[in-house]
Amino acid sequence: MNNQLELDDYKQQVADLYSRRSANYDNGDWHPRIAHRLVEYAHLRLGQHVLDIATGTGMLAIEAAQIVGIEGRVIGIDISTGMIEQAKRKAEILGLDNVEFQLADAEALNFLENSFDCIFCSSALIWMSDLSGALQHWYKLLKPGGLLGFHAFADTAFVGGVVTQRVLEKYGVSLLFSKPTGTVEKCHNLLKQAGFVEIDIKTEQDGGYISLESAKGMWAGNGSAPVPGQHPNPLLQLSSEQLTQARVEFDAELETLQTEQGIWNDITIFYTFGRKAA
Ligand SMILES: C[S@@+](CC[C@H](N)C(=O)[O-])C[C@H]1O[C@@H](n2cnc3c(N)ncnc32)[C@H](O)[C@@H]1O
Repeated sequence: MNNQLELDDYKQQVADLYSRRSANYDNGDWHPRIAHRLVEYAHLRLGQHVLDIATGTGMLAIEAAQIVGIEGRVIGIDISTGMIEQAKRKAEILGLDNVEFQLADAEALNFLENSFDCIFCSSALIWMSDLSGALQHWYKLLKPGGLLGFHAFADTAFVGGVVTQRVLEKYGVSLLFSKPTGTVEKCHNLLKQAGFVEIDIKTEQDGGYISLESAKGMWAGNGSAPVPGQHPNPLLQLSSEQLTQARVEFDAELETLQTEQGIWNDITIFYTFGRKAA
């Protein structure tokens, strides 16, 4: 699907996954809501230069462009052609000419150092192959005093993923998902190690009760989809019989979590910010 970027197998799989999802990605209000909140916390100003890393369909980049105005500039980058096409289409419909979208790998960007007042990475950090390396790379692209903001999710978030992890551990498979950024301390340390100062992490609960059926639909043991930050996919170690059995155990464990209100689906979000020293 992507023929304009040199991507390794892992990133090609991620790009293709999101290109397949791109036409329907904007359905639902969850992604726009939390992207909006990240922008709100950043207090963007007129005239600022903003980079939106892993921009997807450009929802954050477009909102940022509307805030920084014609004196400002926003660039959204992503590895998925499908996502970038959606983003370009939306900006064109809105007649925005201070935002541009480029196909690029977040971990190998060609921008000049000290270029941006603000860099965002909304709902995408765990897809990076090397989290610390990515943060160090983005640090260089910020102007002195510039702000980085990203979402991280607690390691307790998304009941389907948590129960999948627990079940698959019994089969010797360790799925990381949000674990690398799964606590406030981990987010803080990652930013500190990359050189960021004035680290500020706001924790919000966005979870709710979901039906047993929805929870069962969150089984993450599909060996054919890429797994965030892990390649090759650790599920490939398991036979199809083991995966089928693990799926049965997953459903059974979810049934034990059922309450009168449904199943609690924790979505603890860390709105994480750090600055490049002035
Ligand atoms: C969950 S979507 C988030 C999209 C958008 N930022 C949002 O808030 O809705 C994850 C995005 O990360 C992109 N992505 C993953 N790895 C990337 C990389 N190495 N470089 C650029 N984009 C990447 C995917 O293509 C996808 O569009």
